[in-house]
Amino acid sequence: MAETVFVSGDLPGDALPVLRERFDVVHDVGGVASGAFSVVASRVRGIVALLTDRIDRQLLASAPELRIVANVAVGVDNVDLDACRERHVIVTNTPDVLTEATADLTFGLLIDAARRITEGDRLVRAGGFTGWTPTFMLGARVHGMKLGIVGLGRIGKAVARRARGFGMHVGYMQRRREFETVERALGATWVPSLDDLCRSSDAITIHTPLTAETRHLFSRERLASMREGSILVNTSRGPIVDEEALAEALERGPLAAAGLDVFEREPLVCPSLLTRPNAVLAPHIGSADRPTREAMASTAAANVVRVLDGAEPLTPVGLGVKPALV
Ligand code: DGY
Repeated sequence: MAETVFVSGDLPGDALPVLRERFDVVHDVGGVASGAFSVVASRVRGIVALLTDRIDRQLLASAPELRIVANVAVGVDNVDLDACRERHVIVTNTPDVLTEATADLTFGLLIDAARRITEGDRLVRAGGFTGWTPTFMLGARVHGMKLGIVGLGRIGKAVARRARGFGMHVGYMQRRREFETVERALGATWVPSLDDLCRSSDAITIHTPLTAETRHLFSRERLASMREGSILVNTSRGPIVDEEALAEALERGPLAAAGLDVFEREPLVCPSLLTRPNAVLAPHIGSADRPTREAMASTAAANVVRVLDGAEPLTPVGLGVKPALV
């Protein structure tokens, strides 16, 4: 009898047909919280999970035959990695395929927040464009700005490459300094202290995973210490930023604007952010260009096929290794 694989959510591309050819696929857009999952939990061998699925101890206890959780995301903060390790459940993610798409959106949000494009769009639609004047809707200068990258991993590096084209001065903060050859190729300077990076940057962009250590890394105090008139961009995970405090920093300073693709309690957004005209808010679409999403889904499907065939997964998450502040 074919092994049972649970697929959460709609997947673009050929991932579902590929899985259906081999397995008894149970598919429910309600995810692992759905009744469909609980019906098959006791025999499920693989789960293709979304970042909205919580893979915790309780779920793992209900699925004693589970061998692999294939997350359709690079972030795995929705998965209890310790519990998976204890139960010998392999966890995979989808790195690389979404790097450039996420860096593209990061830059889009940065330019939009700095140059007030979405704010202007709202104004035009509301009939507020009454003619060009020299002081109308002035924003921050993008080219040549000092850009602070928190986490120079794959996506942080892709952002740094884009920043070169805009003549930006790139500083980056992470615990481990990159090799000089990498720094030189990216034109990036290591700033060991996050506070120093915040104080010295015209814009900060966050590319670090969500962990216990990075939750509210951008706390009220840190936001308050950012440069006057600076910009914050977050395409990583919402809980890294204290959303209430961010709304205040956007209202009273020091921040001029923010570009956010992720939120603390998705899909909910803090009401005080919703009313800030200087916040550009995107609905977690960092990786949402079609080829990228198809590649994420097919990577997850390939990982399930390989693991259930007894082969090594393509993109395992190192279960012994806790993601540090990159
Ligand atoms: C990820 O892969 O972690 C992204 O947030 C999905 O867009």
